Amino acid sequence: MKASLCIDRHFTIGSVDKRIFGSFIEHLGRAVYGGIYDPGNPLSDERGFRKDVFELIRQIDVPVVRYPGGNFVSAYHWEDGVGPRSLRPKRLEPAWTAVESNEFGLNEFMDWTKAANTTPMMAVNLGTRGAEDAKNLLEYCNISGGTLYSDLRRSHGYQDPHNIRLWCLGNEMDGPWQMGHKTAGEYGRLAAETGRLMKMVDPDIELVACGSSNRNMSTFGYWEDQVLEQCYDQVDYLSLHTYYGNPQDNTPDFLACSADMDAFISSVISICDSVKARKRSKKQICLSFDEWNVWYHSKEQDKQLPRWVQCPPQLEDIYNFEDALLVGSMLITLLRHADRVKIACLAQLVNVIAPIMTDSTGAWAQTIFYPYMHASCLGRGTVLQTQIQSPCYESRYGDVPYLDAVTIENEEEETLTIFAVNKNLSEDIELTADFRQYEGYHVSRHIVMTHSDLKAVNTKKNPNEVIPADTGISSLENGILSSHLPSKSWNVIILKK
Ligand code: AHR
Repeated sequence: MKASLCIDRHFTIGSVDKRIFGSFIEHLGRAVYGGIYDPGNPLSDERGFRKDVFELIRQIDVPVVRYPGGNFVSAYHWEDGVGPRSLRPKRLEPAWTAVESNEFGLNEFMDWTKAANTTPMMAVNLGTRGAEDAKNLLEYCNISGGTLYSDLRRSHGYQDPHNIRLWCLGNEMDGPWQMGHKTAGEYGRLAAETGRLMKMVDPDIELVACGSSNRNMSTFGYWEDQVLEQCYDQVDYLSLHTYYGNPQDNTPDFLACSADMDAFISSVISICDSVKARKRSKKQICLSFDEWNVWYHSKEQDKQLPRWVQCPPQLEDIYNFEDALLVGSMLITLLRHADRVKIACLAQLVNVIAPIMTDSTGAWAQTIFYPYMHASCLGRGTVLQTQIQSPCYESRYGDVPYLDAVTIENEEEETLTIFAVNKNLSEDIELTADFRQYEGYHVSRHIVMTHSDLKAVNTKKNPNEVIPADTGISSLENGILSSHLPSKSWNVIILKK
């Protein structure tokens, strides 16, 4: 099958905000306890942080990590997780029917972010709490001293403020499952007042308001409009969340889900801009796609787990090869919207619907780790408008091209990187693209990840079953790129001057 890409170096979408390669750690299952934090384990450092997990996180270069939830945050008392450990209470954790020990909290997370070479995206509880507690938390984190909460932090051994810049105003407040769920009108008002108060305390912070939990919510569209109507002036970003699955084992439809994500992003941009027009505002709201991934493998097994225990193995999806193809396509979709999507978090990072898995004796990379690592490490620069000419197939989301691709130019490194997924399950693609505007470039690498079995997985015993290799076939002759994209494959083609 033949396909082509058409780019022009002057037609750009926008520069990539590296925060679109963010991730997420929630107090849920074994994400924190036994995931990033495992005191007493020989694999952990003196603070209890797993060093083998750091090693994998460093390979991805995760720029931002959202914390502490997720659904968890909507009844969380951040005060439970600071100060002497012996005084921290064990709490019933209703969101995930577990028990939270509070051994790990805000200050440990901040220490962890430094060690992991990342930055925090902190969520406040707007479920069971509100503006007052958000203000206190911000004072604890960002004010240097001389007041109740800033001095409390100092008394906990943190003389310097944490200076957390990015804050989420609650989590999925449109969802009836959310503790303290609200109507659009109630939430919009609360987000506006909380945001106003938080920016009075620290005007340099950036705020994310909750959009819809997914595009199928009955309130989708109305929610975004009503929420922004009230808090447009206070917030900087609106959130989007989505998870896809393949429970019917229909791989073509599953791989087409990136088209749904694309339509979701475009719709939310339209709503943001219609509120902007109505308000005659000069300000532009950007998007924070702060939860996205494949999530369905673990749903049945989670129903069997015991309730009210500490860190049960919840949401431990074992990802297969086709999941990695969709994750690759979702990353391409985020990059194709780089002008408006400025933050995105693969949900989550360790053990819970995660690219990284651990047990007590080691950590390993799931299939989805690799497209995420490639996009984060090689996808920084300016996104070029990448027109795709490719045969299409019919899916539940309409006609979808077999080829999904995007091109990023990195002027500093003098590279052009093409990320491409061939969604055809039986035919290879012979790809051509005209790069004559770029003189003196050559093909530096063509990385391919493919496997004959769509359901192949990586395990602790066999962690290299699905891994990428520099085996791609590409050439650049007289400025024309020719690449061979195997059927069902994730490809990274790097051209270098
Ligand atoms: O990431 C898992 C959960 O999915 C989060 O806690 C919630 O925000 C979403 O529904």
